[in-house]
Amino acid sequence: MDAAIEARGLVRHFGPVPAVDGIDLYVPRGSVYGFLGPNGSGKTTTIRLLLGLLRPDRGSISLLGGSPHDASCLAQVGAVVERPAFYPYLSAHENLRLFATLAEMPSAVGSAAADRALGVVGLTTVAGRKVGGFSTGMKQRLAVALALLRDPTLVILDEPTNGLDPGGVVEVRGLIGELARSGRTVFLSTHVLTEVEQLCDRVAVLQRGRLVAEGLTRELLERGQRLAIAFDTGDEAERAARVLADAGLEAEAADDRENTLLVARDRLGSSAVNRLLAGHDLYPAELVVRRASLESVFLELTEGV
Ligand SMILES: Nc1ncnc2c1ncn2[C@@H]1O[C@H](COP(=O)(O)OP(=O)(O)OP(=O)(O)O)[C@@H](O)[C@H]1O
Ligand SMILES: [Mg+2]
Repeated sequence: MDAAIEARGLVRHFGPVPAVDGIDLYVPRGSVYGFLGPNGSGKTTTIRLLLGLLRPDRGSISLLGGSPHDASCLAQVGAVVERPAFYPYLSAHENLRLFATLAEMPSAVGSAAADRALGVVGLTTVAGRKVGGFSTGMKQRLAVALALLRDPTLVILDEPTNGLDPGGVVEVRGLIGELARSGRTVFLSTHVLTEVEQLCDRVAVLQRGRLVAEGLTRELLERGQRLAIAFDTGDEAERAARVLADAGLEAEAADDRENTLLVARDRLGSSAVNRLLAGHDLYPAELVVRRASLESVFLELTEGV
């Protein structure tokens, strides 16, 4: 059993329009899984379904092999969905201890758990300070500490860097990396593509309640790679375009550089293209792989869906 999350055929309506429209998810244990989608695509709704905060109209969910309605299963899951409310006049440590008490942890256990969680998120030195004076980034780290209170194996974060300044974003991303290195599975939703590129092994792309792509982040990025072939003269570029077309490769002119052709890379590798052109006495001045941004792949995937 190596799935941290497994969902099949999830559907949830609010009124006539489905917010989640038949989602299947398989999140391997130990992965950092990105759940990517524009505003209103159904990310939060899906997360609420996964956590048992909402009931699906249809579909099934398994969390760490159990049900999201089973307390012993949920005890192994830490989540930050909506920003939790903390008492501003209590310290970070006191706030966490209060939540530990609510979770029926014995006082000494709760206190030790609060220490440990604050350590993981890097708030140890301010543990005794009143939360009312915390920055947004510190509050967000405290929210993650709360999710870690019971030392979960699965951490679910809904847009963990939303509303943070660049410094806070870097801090929270670093923290997510540490959670992953400590062996936890992290499932995070975001609409920030760079976040997925930097953090996630796998990604699912959501559009209007449906998945339009799923897979290894690396492979998704490779999909959009292009080979840029530059020539010294326009004449050579034109001849090369014909040679490539005869070989079944559609070349388009690069709009940002003269005498340069772009070819989808998944069709033929650089050396094969080079050989093909050399066979026709065509020698590119430069041949480079242009890496697609996840953004362009994302736009391609969600266009017209
Ligand atoms: N409680 C609710 N009642 C009615 N409609 C809802 C409710 N929650 C979500 N929706 C609708 O469901 C759709 C998906 O919303 P959801 O919040 O899941 O999207 P999201 O991907 O999290 O968006 P965002 O990036 O803005 O957080 C939206 O059209 C939203 O208006
Ligand atoms: Mg949301």
